[in-house]
Amino acid sequence: KVYRATTTAPVNIAVVKYWGKRDAKLNLPTNSSLSVTLAQSDLRTLTTATCSAVYAGQGDSLLLNGEASDVSGARTQACFRALRERRAALEAADSSLPKLASLPLRIVTENNFPTAAGLASSAAGFAALVRAIADLYELPDTPSQLSLIARQGSGSACRSVFGGYVAWRMGEKADGSDSLAEQVAPASAWPEMRAVVLVVSAAKKGVSSTSGMQQTVATSGLFQERIRTVVPDNMAKMEAAIAAQDFAAFAEVTMRDSNSFHATCADTYPPIFYMNDVSRAAVRAVESINAKAGRTVAAYTFDAGPNAVVYYLEKDADVVLGTFSSILGAGVDGWKGSAAPSTAQAA
Ligand code: DP6
Repeated sequence: KVYRATTTAPVNIAVVKYWGKRDAKLNLPTNSSLSVTLAQSDLRTLTTATCSAVYAGQGDSLLLNGEASDVSGARTQACFRALRERRAALEAADSSLPKLASLPLRIVTENNFPTAAGLASSAAGFAALVRAIADLYELPDTPSQLSLIARQGSGSACRSVFGGYVAWRMGEKADGSDSLAEQVAPASAWPEMRAVVLVVSAAKKGVSSTSGMQQTVATSGLFQERIRTVVPDNMAKMEAAIAAQDFAAFAEVTMRDSNSFHATCADTYPPIFYMNDVSRAAVRAVESINAKAGRTVAAYTFDAGPNAVVYYLEKDADVVLGTFSSILGAGVDGWKGSAAPSTAQAA
């Protein structure tokens, strides 16, 4: 018999950024963060987990977009181990259950977006991996409990276990048991939200987030101020903006937090630059769109790469997208389609 489960997980883009680990092994962050989940019709990872006694004796395997991928990495292993432990506990308590925990796992995973979009595919990737295996093992865990496991794969992955507006609470315990994601609001609470990914460069990023944030924690003085006052303040303001569906407030916190994160990168020694000239032109374009509209209609944010994600409301789609392409048209490689917040994984 072959046991199989298939699931999808969405991409999330942080509006209050995770940047910094207090424990690199468990992926425990130095600050809380908050993200908006993007529509799965545009951006998602699809993963199937299979196990069978037929493959007994073989190792675990992972096929990523059709190519064999390494499963021996510490992060993948941490996820496999945590999920197997939970399954083994179920099997120990109920001897009628099939013994799946000891069988090799076969994982097949696919993204429906090009890696050129430069999106943190590890977030959707690990969230889908954890969910597919949890479904395969019929684990009773809640999404927040599964987020604890996904976090060990990639920090931002814990937020992709949910849809809508999602907070990752940093927690304070050394074992990480309180460093988990929770839904702040379902997508339906503010369904007009849209995001467009502006592909500034398809090139792979220079400094990985994992290594970049370690360098920032170790060398930036500004970073200390960010985690002590800036982020807690932004988290509170962001949650209030989402609760009130206040786009101007949402946009200001989003842009300020992105700027603050990239300022700590510049304050890292030696400095890290993720944004380039085209990224900065996108910032100016958003400012000019807002100035022309006489109100805030668009907000930019940048992760560990040059591509911009611009948030706007559906009613302002024409003014935002139209002006953007006329200002930046020549300077950009292309767009990745507009994305509404995802409801599919909302728990
Ligand atoms: C800038 O989650 O990719 O996108 O935990 O080391 O896998 P690891 O890092 P990762 O970092 C994401 C950083 C960010 C901000 C964010 O998504 O909050």
